[in-house]
Amino acid sequence: MRKNFEGKRVLITGGGTGIGKAAALEFAREGAAVFITGRRGEKLAEAAREARAEGHGILFAVSDVSIEEDCRSAVELAVREMGGLDILFNNAGVLIPGPVHETATAAWEKTFDVNVRGAWLMSKFAIPHMLGRGRGWIVNNASIVGLKGFAGLPAYAASKGAVIQLTRSMALEYSARGINVNAVCPGTTMTPLVTEGFMKRVPDPGEGIRFMESLHPMGRLALPEEVARAVLFLCDERAGFVTGAALPVDGGWCAR
Ligand SMILES: NC(=O)c1ccc[n+]([C@@H]2O[C@H](COP(=O)([O-])OP(=O)(O)OC[C@H]3O[C@@H](n4cnc5c(N)ncnc54)[C@H](OP(=O)(O)O)[C@@H]3O)[C@@H](O)[C@H]2O)c1
Repeated sequence: MRKNFEGKRVLITGGGTGIGKAAALEFAREGAAVFITGRRGEKLAEAAREARAEGHGILFAVSDVSIEEDCRSAVELAVREMGGLDILFNNAGVLIPGPVHETATAAWEKTFDVNVRGAWLMSKFAIPHMLGRGRGWIVNNASIVGLKGFAGLPAYAASKGAVIQLTRSMALEYSARGINVNAVCPGTTMTPLVTEGFMKRVPDPGEGIRFMESLHPMGRLALPEEVARAVLFLCDERAGFVTGAALPVDGGWCAR
């Protein structure tokens, strides 16, 4: 049986862990060629090993989305290795919590450099390859806090709001030229960003998780695979009329 993404070439930033890795594995299972990037080579190699154990190949390169030259060369390498590029998933992201008056300038700048500037730079270098073929898909990983206010995450929430507006602007710029641009807005998802990052900074991680669960009407957190499948949906030819969307994957949070 033909798989949904056979013949498609996918580039995923932050593909060594969490949602990025889940998306890489889902795309590979659906027949796509997949290239992942991130700063930690060992995480990328681990993801590639997991794919190999399932009988799929995943290519990878160490690359930092906050460095312009890294973005340019990651796109060029992915295009060279896969023979082109159809899908870009701008997934790399960082979360540095803290109220406005305690947020260091460096933390604010790093958040925007990775979450916003990184997505813009990767898109900037990827889009010419998509325009050349007249077809392409870009999905940006935003967040529910790009749509809803959330105390204690000002830099992160502002950066994700910017990612959603970048998404909408790109969708309008390229909708008549064959490129669909959408964002996913996950609720809290069980990934290292939460389990090793955010939760380690709260005094009682168990209570922290229960509080986060209570914010989602479904009463639980998302699995990375659930977000990954929404990303695949946004890149599916059968969803070809969807562009400029900021799709909540949030267990009902936004419905409130
Ligand atoms: N988990 C959640 O609750 C949640 C909710 C909404 C949105 N999101 C978004 O989902 C995306 C993925 O996060 P995750 O939850 O899957 O957590 P994660 O496992 O921590 O993933 C973040 C990924 O980004 C990569 N990364 C960070 N800085 C980078 C840089 N400068 N250059 C290249 N790669 C970089 C990390 O790899 P290296 O450290 O090796 O570079 C890592 O693989 C993020 O954009 C996040 O904001 C997550």
